[in-house]
Amino acid sequence: MTRKVTKAVFPVAGMGTRFLPATKSVPKEIMTLVDRPLVQYAIDEARAAGIKEFIFVTSRGKSALEDYFDHNLVLEQELMAKGKNKLLDILNKTNMESGAIAYIRQHKALGLGHAVWCARRLIGDEPFAVMLPDDVIAADKPCLQQMVEAYEETGGNMVATMEVPPEKTSSYGVLDVVDSIGPVIPAKGMVEKPEPSKAPSKLAVIGRYILRPSVLNNLNAMKTGSGGEIQLTDAIAEDIASGVPVFGYKFDGQRFDCGSKSGFLQATVSFALARDDLRDDLSQYLNDIVATGKAAQ
Ligand code: G1P
Repeated sequence: MTRKVTKAVFPVAGMGTRFLPATKSVPKEIMTLVDRPLVQYAIDEARAAGIKEFIFVTSRGKSALEDYFDHNLVLEQELMAKGKNKLLDILNKTNMESGAIAYIRQHKALGLGHAVWCARRLIGDEPFAVMLPDDVIAADKPCLQQMVEAYEETGGNMVATMEVPPEKTSSYGVLDVVDSIGPVIPAKGMVEKPEPSKAPSKLAVIGRYILRPSVLNNLNAMKTGSGGEIQLTDAIAEDIASGVPVFGYKFDGQRFDCGSKSGFLQATVSFALARDDLRDDLSQYLNDIVATGKAAQ
């Protein structure tokens, strides 16, 4: 029997420089897809997977993110007085249970592995999830829930994976596999951001992980890897070497790379088209703009 996964780590310390000037004062994770901040998508997915404790690894300048999860009493009273129950409902869904959310600072940008390691005392000796809010996954059954269900059968470590074009491997952790039949793929190795000529496969790691505490022990060594950073991929790969299995999980769903402008825009359009209140107007507009080729001046 595997132990239940009830804790998730959200590394959100990055400066979001790709979205400057917006991220000069707004944390990237608060930027909205339609009308919900990126981080809300990750929280909803985590909740659906049974996560009860949410650990954010933050940095200087992220206080708007902490405020976002507080009750906004003034706003709530105002909406109540005006009888705006639908809006109140939307707000209530964003409120977190007291004590369910914790913030830890990563004092230096030393890499994703280091960010996760910063949460080690809050994680303790149990399996935990890691979710990168930049990777937004639209799916009928939320991606982390798919993984938790698979993990209950396999144990070990599990990472979300999908095939990427060969020229893109240098943007991802990449799995070394014997074969890739079915959704659960045993990995015999993992490499962070390999050049296409050195990539062991086209199976990229996407930002959802279920990890054993042994990965945190591996991170204690503070070994640097790709880009001179302490890489989570390397710490997971070390587990394979010491006999703990690692599985890639080919999830059902569409992943948007909201760490890039183009991915963010694609996600915005796609989530808007899924909404009854926006679909007609937006698709009409998209058809027109494609037909006439007219962009903003
Ligand atoms: C991180 C991980 C990488 C993973 C990617 C998924 O990279 O280090 O292994 O494939 O997230 O989005 P980053 O995008 O932070 O450079």
